[in-house]
Amino acid sequence: MASSAFNRIMVTAALPYANGPVHLGHLAGAYLPADLFSRFQRMKGEDVVFVCGSDEMGVAIMVRARNEGIDPQDLVDRYHPMIEKAFAGFGMSFDHYGRTTSPIHAETSQDFFRTLASKDVFALKTEEQLYDPEAGIFLADRFVVGTCPSCGNENAYGDQCEKCGSTLSPKELINPRSTLSDATPELRETTHFYLPLGDFQGRLDQWISTHPEWKPNVLGQVRSWLNDGLKDRAITRDVPWGVPVPKDVADELGIDAEGKVIYVWFDAPIGYISDTKEWALKQGDPEAWKPYWQADDTRLVHFIGKDNIVFHCLMFPAMLMAHGDYTLPENVPANEFLNIEGEKLSTSRGWAVWLHEYLEDFEPDLLRYALATMLPETKDADFNWSEFQTRVNSELADVLGNFVNRTLTFAARFADGKVPELVHPSAADTAALQELATFPDRIGKAYDSYRNREAVFETMALARLGNKYFNDTEPWHTRKSDPQACANTIHVSLQICASLSVLMEPVLPFSAEKLRSMLRLDGVRASMPAGVQGEIGWDQAGRPLLSPGHELGEPGILFTKIEDDVIEEQKARLGATPEGQEEESPHEPVKDVITYDDFAKLDFRMGTIIEAEEMPKSKKLVKTIVDLGFEKRQILAGIKEHFEPQALIGKRVAVVANLAPRKMMGTESQGMILMAEDREGALFLMNSDGENGSVIR
Ligand code: 2FM
Ligand code: ZN
Repeated sequence: MASSAFNRIMVTAALPYANGPVHLGHLAGAYLPADLFSRFQRMKGEDVVFVCGSDEMGVAIMVRARNEGIDPQDLVDRYHPMIEKAFAGFGMSFDHYGRTTSPIHAETSQDFFRTLASKDVFALKTEEQLYDPEAGIFLADRFVVGTCPSCGNENAYGDQCEKCGSTLSPKELINPRSTLSDATPELRETTHFYLPLGDFQGRLDQWISTHPEWKPNVLGQVRSWLNDGLKDRAITRDVPWGVPVPKDVADELGIDAEGKVIYVWFDAPIGYISDTKEWALKQGDPEAWKPYWQADDTRLVHFIGKDNIVFHCLMFPAMLMAHGDYTLPENVPANEFLNIEGEKLSTSRGWAVWLHEYLEDFEPDLLRYALATMLPETKDADFNWSEFQTRVNSELADVLGNFVNRTLTFAARFADGKVPELVHPSAADTAALQELATFPDRIGKAYDSYRNREAVFETMALARLGNKYFNDTEPWHTRKSDPQACANTIHVSLQICASLSVLMEPVLPFSAEKLRSMLRLDGVRASMPAGVQGEIGWDQAGRPLLSPGHELGEPGILFTKIEDDVIEEQKARLGATPEGQEEESPHEPVKDVITYDDFAKLDFRMGTIIEAEEMPKSKKLVKTIVDLGFEKRQILAGIKEHFEPQALIGKRVAVVANLAPRKMMGTESQGMILMAEDREGALFLMNSDGENGSVIR
C-alpha cells in the first residue's frame, strides 16, 4: 500500500468558512472522505494527525457580517461553535478543530509571510484602487457597485455583473459607488504583495508530473491552469478584517501596513499548520507538530472539494516550496460537487440539507453510510432522499442489521449466549472463513487509495457473505438434524459479526461500537484520536476474533427502517420552487393608475435615522427617530428581521411625512420609512444626497 514509504500521516480537511452552518455538500466534498481515511489509517495502526478548523477571515465573512449589521467577530463567534458541534455530531474524528481567528494562527501566518518576504519571494505592485473617502477604506471588489459597461445593469458588482455574467474590474464600472457609504469612490494608489506564481511554474509542473496517480478530475484542472500559464496573485488586501500584514516587513519595504491584511487564501491553508501547532500544545509537546509538516516521511493529504483545487495543488504548494522547510502533499483527492434531488445545491434557495437539522431527525451513521455510497468521487453525484431510504432499509437494516440480529438471537437461544466451538467444519464453514480473511485487504486497499464508495461497497459485501452463508447452512434445520453443524454456523457467523464490528468502524463508527457491545468484544483499536490502543486492529480483523466459550452481550436492533412519510417530510423541506417553474419569482404587478392630483397629496421627505431600537415583545418592529430637518419623528418600521437596529443609526431614508399617525402595540408611529423590497423579500433603504427635509417629487 502507498502508506508503506511513510511513517506518519497528516490529514487536513478544507477549513469551512464560518459564515453559515455546514451542509451535506460540505460533508460529501471533504469531511466524510477525510474522516473515513483517518479512521481507517488509525485502525491500521498508522500515526495519524487529522486537523480542521473554521476559516474566519476573508471578505466573504466581512460582507456577510456587514449585511447583518454586526461585527465579523460576532458572526464567526456564532457559526464556529455551531459548525464544530455539527461535525462532532457526525463523528468527525479531528485531532484538533481550530479557528483562524486564534492568536497562534495570526502568528503562524505572519511568520510564514515574513519568511517568504525575507527570501525575497514576493513581488510588489503599486496600483490605483478605488477608495471610499467617507468610510476611509479601500474597497474590495464586492463593495463597489455601478453600471455594467456591457449590459447597462446599474447594480453590477466590482468583480462581476450578475445580470450578464461579465467579469469586471471595479475600475470598469460606470458611475461607481461604494456600498458602504454610497459615496463615489476615488482612485488612490496602494501597494500590494504578490506571489509570483509564474516563477514556480516549472517546479510545480515537474512536481505534478511525479503524481500520475492523482485523481483525473484533479489532474485535469491542474493541467489546465498550468497550460494557461500561472499568473502573479495579490496576497494582500486593504480591508479591515484579516490577519494583519506584519508591520516590520512592510516598514522595511517602505510600505504603509495600516489597514493591510493577508489575503484569506494565503492564510487559510497555513491554518492547517496552526491547527497542528495547537494540537501539539494540547499534547503538552509544542514541537510535536514539526515532523507532521516538515519530515520527508510524512504522508500529507488534503481533502477538499473541487472549487479548492487550484489553491491546494498549486498556490499552497508554491508557498511551501518558497518557504523551504515544508513537505509537499502526497495527494489532494478532491471530490466533485454533490447535487440534491437532481438540482444544484443552493443555500440561498434553501436547497440544502443542513447537518444540524439532519441530526435532529436521524442517527449520524445512516447518512455517513448512505452518503459514502453516493460520493462525487469522479464526477458530480446526486443525493436523493429515496436513495437514502433504500440504502438504510435495504442495506443497513435488511442486510447488515438482519445478519447481526439473526446471528445473535440464534446464539442467545441455541448456544446459551456463548460462542460455540467450531468442530469438524464443513466446506461451507471453511470457505466462509477463508473469504472473511480477504476482507481487511479488499476494503483497506480501497480506503487507502481514496476509493470510498468501493470500500463501503466491500464492507457491505462482508455482511452479504454472512447472510448468504447463514442461509446456505440453514441452522434452523440443522438445529434438530445436526446440532454441531448448527453450532458451527453460529460460530462462523459470530466471527463474521466480530470482524464486521472492526471493518465497518470507519463508515459506521457509532453502530460498530454498539455491535461490539452486543458481542462484548473488547480490545479493538480505536479509530478516534487518543483512543484505546487495543491489540485488534484492521489487519487482525480477517481472523476469528472470538474465542469459544466467550460470553456474548444482549442482542439488539442496529438499524430501524425509515418510513415513507418521514422521507416525504425531508423532501418537502427542500426549499426550491416546483419543477418546471421559473426560478425567479415574477415582479409584482403595477397597481391601478392614479391621477397627478392623487400623487400630489403625498408628501415624501428625506431624513436621517438618529435613533433606532427594538420594540420590546415585537418580532418585527423597530422604533426609530428620524430627523426630518424641521422636526424629529418617531416612526415604527416592520424591519427587525432585516436590519440590526444599531446598523440603522445614521442611515439616510425617504419618509412619507403626511401619513396619519397610528398606534402599533400601544406606541405611536408618525410616518413611514420607504424601502425597496426585491423579489426575494430583501429590503433596501432609499437614499439620496438631499439635506434632511428635502421634498421628494
Ligand atoms: O472554500 C472554502 O470554504 C474555504 N474556506 C476553504 C479553505 S481550505 C484551506 F485552505 F483552509
Ligand atoms: Zn452586465
